[in-house]
Amino acid sequence: MLILSSQIPNKQPESKSELYKQLVSQLSSLLAGERDLIANAANFSSLIFHSLPDLNWAGFYFAKDGDLVLGPFQGKPACVRIRIGQGVCGTAAAKRETVIVWNVHEFPGHIACDSASNSEIVVPLIKNEEFIGVLDLDSPVLGRFDNEDAVGLNQLVSIWVESIEVRPSE
Ligand code: SME
Repeated sequence: MLILSSQIPNKQPESKSELYKQLVSQLSSLLAGERDLIANAANFSSLIFHSLPDLNWAGFYFAKDGDLVLGPFQGKPACVRIRIGQGVCGTAAAKRETVIVWNVHEFPGHIACDSASNSEIVVPLIKNEEFIGVLDLDSPVLGRFDNEDAVGLNQLVSIWVESIEVRPSE
């Protein structure tokens, strides 16, 4: 099913959990019937960038040749390759865990792509027990992301992971 931007409700939900509930339903509709990894990553990053408040970057890095390589995103141009274990994305990749950073300037090894970023959340993408990349969100607001965001984003990531087909060559 195709959702046009005009179909994304403008009405602000009353709570963060309500917002994620809406996003779960919107993302499911948006990805239904499509298995292409890049297409679904592109639409996912656009949906969250335009729906979650106070973001300056939202996008993907995919595991390739032992590094994380930039995928579809919304925001300013970003660094293309990140080593596993390096920065916030590389740390989430190495730990296979969601990482929330209250203040990126205090995170050892943080990679600054946009000087506007002050806080960050990175969610690992795991399909069939295989690590395939990370979803990265940046905010200009200090402490923008909390546990509710981690839970909501992990739900959204599960929908995206289920939607895609990963071919061995990728
Ligand atoms: N800040 C990230 C790098 C990616 S950009 O934020 C888009 C990091 O430290 O891994």
